[in-house]
Amino acid sequence: MNASTLRPAIFFDRDGTLIEDRGYIRSPSDVIFYEDTIAVLQKLKKYFLLFIVTNQPGIARGILQPKEVEEVNRYVAEILSHAGVMISAVYICPHTRDEGCECIKPNPHFLLKAAREFRVDLSRSFVVGDHPHDAELARNVGAKGIYLLTGHGQKHFDELPSDVFVAKGMGEAVDWIIRTSLYPKEFEVILRAAEIIKKGGIVAFPTETVYGLGADAFHPLAVARIFEVKRRPFFDPLIAHVANPADVRKLVKEIPSSAKRLIERFWPGPLTVVLLKEENIPDIVTAGLPSIAVRMPDHPMALSLIKESKCPIAAPSANPFGYLSPTTAEHVREQLGDQVDLILDGGPCPVGVESTIVSFLENKPRLLRPGGVSLEEIETIIGKVEISPIEEDRPFAPGMLPRHYAPRTPIVLDWNEKNRDLYKGKSIGLLAFQEPKNNLKFHSVEVLSKKGDMREAAANLFSAIRRLDALNLDLIVAEPIPEIGLGRAIMDRLRRATSKGEQNQ
Ligand code: TXA
Ligand code: MG
Repeated sequence: MNASTLRPAIFFDRDGTLIEDRGYIRSPSDVIFYEDTIAVLQKLKKYFLLFIVTNQPGIARGILQPKEVEEVNRYVAEILSHAGVMISAVYICPHTRDEGCECIKPNPHFLLKAAREFRVDLSRSFVVGDHPHDAELARNVGAKGIYLLTGHGQKHFDELPSDVFVAKGMGEAVDWIIRTSLYPKEFEVILRAAEIIKKGGIVAFPTETVYGLGADAFHPLAVARIFEVKRRPFFDPLIAHVANPADVRKLVKEIPSSAKRLIERFWPGPLTVVLLKEENIPDIVTAGLPSIAVRMPDHPMALSLIKESKCPIAAPSANPFGYLSPTTAEHVREQLGDQVDLILDGGPCPVGVESTIVSFLENKPRLLRPGGVSLEEIETIIGKVEISPIEEDRPFAPGMLPRHYAPRTPIVLDWNEKNRDLYKGKSIGLLAFQEPKNNLKFHSVEVLSKKGDMREAAANLFSAIRRLDALNLDLIVAEPIPEIGLGRAIMDRLRRATSKGEQNQ
C-alpha cells in the first residue's frame, strides 16, 4: 500500500466530546451539541477523516436498546452532514469496560477496521475523548490520545497515563492537533520563529493569501524594521494579524454589528476589517491613523506563529514596496533574502491574492480593496457595501496607490491585435485567463486556469506574472477577466500592475 495515499483520521468519543454527556441518551431530542463542535469539525475536515466511536455500556446492561443508540448516532451524523461535515463511519462498542471489552483490548478493532476500509494512517491519527480508555485505544495502535476535561473528564483525571495530552475543551484539542500533526517538524521552526518575534525580530510567514513579513505589533522598533526592509513609506499602515476572533476586541474601540457578522462568517479567512483603534496601539503600525486593520488568517502555520508569539503580529505582504506579493517562500527568499531573520516555508499560498479590506469607519461599510473574499459574498451577509474607486487623489486605503503589484516588464490590459506591427521584432508574453485559441504570436504564454476557474486563476496570478517577468520580455499582454467573484480582485491587481502612475518604491 502506498503510504502517501493513506490519510490521517480523528476518532471522537461521542458523548462529552461532540455532544453533552447526559447519561443514557435514548433519542435525538436528548442530544445537545457543544457550541463549538461544528466549527471545530469544519476546521479539521480539511485535513482528517472523521469518525465517531461511542462506548455504550447501557446496551450490555440492558438499559439501552441498540436501535435507540443507532437512531441517536444517525441524528448526530445527519446534523453534522447538514453543516457540511462528513463522518466516515460511526462505531458502537456495546460492552461494559470492566469486562475487558474486546473492542478496545488487545486490538481496538474499530480503529483497525477504519484503517482497512478507509485507508487511514493510524500513526498520524488521534482519538479524542473524556475517558482514559479513549487514550488507551489510541496507544494500542500507535495513534495519539487527547483527553478532554469535559463530560467525565474531571472524574477520571487521576487514572490518566502521564503521556496523554490533556485539553480543557475541543478548541484547545484542535489547536494541539493542528500544531503537532500537520507540521511536526515545522513546529520546532515555528517555536524558533516565535522566539524571534518576542525578541523584536522580523519573520516572513505563509498565510492563505500571500506571505507576510511580521513583527510584534506592540514593538515599534521591530515594526520600523519591516518598513525599512520593504522600503515602504511610513504613511502606509499595516494589518494586525490575530489568532482568535476574540482578540480583535483588545485592538479596537468597538465592533459594529455588521463587522461582527463578517468576522463570524469569514474568519479565519481572507477578510480584513478596519475599525477605530484602541489608544495603546503604536502609531507606526497604523501610520498615525485613528483606525487599525485586523485579520485572522486561515493558515495553520500563521495561526501557530501568532499563538506561540503571544502577541498580534503586524505584517504587510513580504515583498519590496510596489512589487508583486509573494505566494511562495522562494519568492520571499529571492526578494528579501537575508534581510529577514527567518522565513517559514508553508508551501504555495492557496488563495493567492491578498485579503479583502472592508472599513467600518463611516455609516456604511466600504470596500477598500477587493480580495480573497468576493464582494458578492460580503453583500449577502451585510447588504450593500460602498466601493472605493481605484483612482483617488487620496486613496482610502493609504497603500492603495494606483501603481502597485507591478512587475518590471511593461504590462497592458487593452491589447489590440491590430497594433502588432508597432511591436515588430519585440518579444511579447501573454497572460491568459483560459487556454487561448491562438497563441502562436506570443513569445511565451501563461494560462491562469485551463478550465476557467476563478479560484485557480487567483492562486496562480502572482507566480505567473513573476515567471513572465523573469523572461526579459518587451511587453506582457494581460487578458481581461470577467469581474465577478474573485475576478474583481484579479482585475484590480492587473490594473495596478498596468497603471502608468508613479512606481512607489
Ligand atoms: O492578505 C493580506 O491582507 C496580506 C497578508 C500578509 O495578510 N497582507 C497585506 O498587507 O496585503 P499589505 O500591507 O500589503 O496591505 C495592507 C493594506 C494596505 O493597502 C494598507 O494601506 C491598508 O491595508 N490598511 C492598513 N491599515 C489601514 C487602515 N487603518 N485604514 C485603511 N487601510 C489600511
Ligand atoms: Mg502588499
